Amino acid sequence: MAERYDLIVIGGGPGGYVAAIRAAQLGKKVVCIDKRPSFGGTCLNVGCIPSKALLDSSEFYSQIQHKASRHGIAVSKVGLDLAAMMKRKDAVVKANTDGIAMLFKKNGVKPMQGTGRLIAPDKVEVTGPDGTKTVLEGNAVLLAMGSESATIPALPIDGKQIVTSTEALAFDSVPEHLVVVGGGYIGLEMGSVWLRLGSKVTVVEFLPRILPLNDTEIVNLVHKSLTKQGMTIHVGAKVTGAKASGKKVTVVAQGPNGDLKIDCDKVLVAVGRKAVTQGCGLEEVGVKVENGKVAVDDKYQTSVPGVYAIGDLIDGPMLAHKAMEEGIAFAEMLAGQPAHVNYDAIPSVIYTWPEVAAVGKTEDQLKEAGVEYRVGKFPFLASGRARAMDETEGIVKVLADAKTDRLLGVHIFGPRASDMIAEAVTTIEFVGSAEDIARIVHAHPTLSEALGEAARVAYFGKAIHI
Ligand code: NAI
Repeated sequence: MAERYDLIVIGGGPGGYVAAIRAAQLGKKVVCIDKRPSFGGTCLNVGCIPSKALLDSSEFYSQIQHKASRHGIAVSKVGLDLAAMMKRKDAVVKANTDGIAMLFKKNGVKPMQGTGRLIAPDKVEVTGPDGTKTVLEGNAVLLAMGSESATIPALPIDGKQIVTSTEALAFDSVPEHLVVVGGGYIGLEMGSVWLRLGSKVTVVEFLPRILPLNDTEIVNLVHKSLTKQGMTIHVGAKVTGAKASGKKVTVVAQGPNGDLKIDCDKVLVAVGRKAVTQGCGLEEVGVKVENGKVAVDDKYQTSVPGVYAIGDLIDGPMLAHKAMEEGIAFAEMLAGQPAHVNYDAIPSVIYTWPEVAAVGKTEDQLKEAGVEYRVGKFPFLASGRARAMDETEGIVKVLADAKTDRLLGVHIFGPRASDMIAEAVTTIEFVGSAEDIARIVHAHPTLSEALGEAARVAYFGKAIHI
């Protein structure tokens, strides 16, 4: 007889593993299935965590080369041991994935390696790594299979010269010239890693600007900064093909000023990700998929009662923290508790250096919606802490409702923007105002003072330090 669970989770990424742990904490009998030998999904295995490990290592390397002398530190010979850098990255990944295994044990979640397929609304067939099939029964099934790299026909992935982010996280030598197709999150982060490690990096973006969803003013600063760091960026350029010969590849694109032909040795295709909706039995069981995403109601239930979906599979930004919060809210609702995710307060971070972080609306969105707003900006150049750190590039920008002063959006390009954005998220979550941030005491000297100052500009019309 098939083993029966309160909840079967298919997919052990940030959405699935968090939902499994929270449901187990609330007393449910839970099994979590993943085809990888280690839990954590794309994020921990081949996404957020390894990319941040390499971003930190490469930024450290770049700082020693370019910034140490300004601090009065003389470094005579700086060498790169790429194998050791990759080994450290792998150790960081392992510590994190081992952590999930430990958390499953602690919370009583049963882990199961294999590929899950829905065969009935309450039945999942799991094909193990050795091909054996097991059928599980569940009172509820959560689909959390996540997403996979999108590809374009003009650039068939060969895993060696034309690659996805997975291979770009594990090159065994520094490419001479890396062409990145797509100026989004992955393109700019992985482009930054290899640029700092010595590659020539060329980004080819189809739209008229990189980071199409971010605030235009911030994006212009990011574009300028990356160009200054040595990255070549072509916008409005459509890649039409790539031809590999020997170890070289020629990428062909149609740019705004004519055709581009770029010779390189590696091409990273980073043109977005698509939800994994194929091969998991969704169609057979009747789970509705709309525009490539699983359709769900406000309790994350799909068109099939008892079958739920969260994370990259459903609408919204494909971000690990969004999936995690959905996992928690889903588990709490399954246990009969009230829960929700505030989709207006989901931060985003792009780990270039300086970093880009945002929450809420952009100026473009406010204009389009006809909302009257006030803007407050403060440059890191005027921050004492930023000067002490020798990290004065970037700004904080605060957008507040012109009538009510309600905080509508915060956009940061600057050092440790990833940590600074938390205060803005909290304020938006609590329906706070620019005045609230302006009057909060920010420790001195910290980078967070720049947010207080930008809020003062939005509310009082003036900051103290500019
Ligand atoms: P993305 O959606 O961020 O960027 C893809 C870019 O490729 C877009 O600017 C798009 O206009 C461009 N593009 C599409 N087709 C193209 C073509 N044929 N030629 C040239 N450009 C083209 O997707 P990306 O960077 O692949 O990242 C995938 C997902 O992973 C994103 O949804 C992102 O949210 C997530 N991610 C998040 C990170 C973070 O939170 N720091 C880091 C890395 C990825």
